[in-house]
Amino acid sequence: MPEPATPATPVTFPPAFLWGAATSAYQIEGAVREGGRTPSIWDTFSHTPGKTAGGEHGDIAVDHYHRYRDDVAMMADLGLNAYRFSISWSRVQPTGRGPAVQVGLDFYRRLVDELLDKGIKPAVTLYHWDLPQELEDAGGWPERDTAYRFAEYAQIVGEALGDRVEQWITLNEPWCSAFLGYASGVHAPGRTDPAASLKAAHHLNLAHGLGTSALRAAMPARNSVALSLNSSVVRPVSQDPADLAAARKIDDLANGVFHGPILHGAYPDSLFAATELITDWSYVEDGDLRAINQPLDALGLNYYTPTLVSAADTDLSGPRADGHGASDFSPWPGADDVAFHQSPGERTEMGWSIDPTGLHELIMRYTREAPGLPLYITENGAAYDDKPDPEGRVHDPERISYLHGHLAAVRRAVSDGADVRGYYLWSLMDNFEWAYGYEKRFGAVYVDYATLARTPKSSALWYGQAARTGTLPPVPEV
Ligand code: FCB
Repeated sequence: MPEPATPATPVTFPPAFLWGAATSAYQIEGAVREGGRTPSIWDTFSHTPGKTAGGEHGDIAVDHYHRYRDDVAMMADLGLNAYRFSISWSRVQPTGRGPAVQVGLDFYRRLVDELLDKGIKPAVTLYHWDLPQELEDAGGWPERDTAYRFAEYAQIVGEALGDRVEQWITLNEPWCSAFLGYASGVHAPGRTDPAASLKAAHHLNLAHGLGTSALRAAMPARNSVALSLNSSVVRPVSQDPADLAAARKIDDLANGVFHGPILHGAYPDSLFAATELITDWSYVEDGDLRAINQPLDALGLNYYTPTLVSAADTDLSGPRADGHGASDFSPWPGADDVAFHQSPGERTEMGWSIDPTGLHELIMRYTREAPGLPLYITENGAAYDDKPDPEGRVHDPERISYLHGHLAAVRRAVSDGADVRGYYLWSLMDNFEWAYGYEKRFGAVYVDYATLARTPKSSALWYGQAARTGTLPPVPEV
């Protein structure tokens, strides 16, 4: 059922609810050569001709590295009480191994102190896709050693920031790292090798497990460790058994491959069957599943749009859209018999259909899948082609409507028994949207890329009011 634009009764959240915004290091920091930072796979990829729209890259991004104080003050002015950001691994450990660079850690210490000073609760993501290039040169995520390197890095950051940051997220959306990075190649490092992508998925799971243990050993016990999954809401186009089987396969490849071992200690047997022609999974060593299946303190869910699938009548050829770019190579190893469809209804500037019922469904699924585990919506938001008016104001009623619909869906899930503790809007401000460069604007705050000036859009003011009052304000007419 679609959410009504503004329901008759006000939508009110519990007092302790976190109202946050999210960003990631490569998308906002810039300063890629400062403080001893070395290239990550995203520096290399975005500087490779043809990989990003207009050849754009994060060299300057929105210069958050130099403007973080103003950005934190802006969040405080808006009324946000939480902020999720990621650490650039190669700023902290330039070669991906060995001792930390203090200048890198100091930047994040200052950022955290600024946030705490303004009453904003920091949530740190250790890995949002920017592997140090040296580790990719040594084999990247398909190599087991990368998981050990991640655990070492987690320990370093946990020791440095564990006294002041309570909320920790090991990995952001490992699906994108494994399958967009190593199968479809639309993300860094841009490889198109299905077998390598499944190995990468396992080593990301291992990194999460070892990283969780390393964080716990390095930090006070009160801190919370989670990960953020972009778990897909997979819907079959019909109840035909072939379409249902297609949806189950994609559910395994999108969700089960991660939450199977992480939450339940096992990969789904159906995943092994679906991928048997591609890999024999012999790299899953004794003890790995135990290492991966660490108890978590919370689970982060990122949601944008549902995934609509059917059985494919014919082997699909030609470009495949996957939400983050198009490629001749599929990000779904072993699923050539599945076809992907556009969901009906309105779309954002990404072409993603707007469907808050998917967020409700996702939350309820993980409420059943991981009973008792607190949930956070660690990303949700929309890209629109925002432009300042002649007075320099930026009106984005479509984004307000998107946020309202999705926050109301979260609230409905809470009424239905889900333990959702917070919501992080993607994104605080316009930024480098990976393969799309700067052309897709997800920010609640507008960034003028010529001057890097920040202007809160009307959605930022709307969201800030929601954060301050705990109740969703009315939605303006679009
Ligand atoms: C998510 C990513 C985030 C951003 C949004 C639009 O998959 O985690 O960095 O690109 O999509």
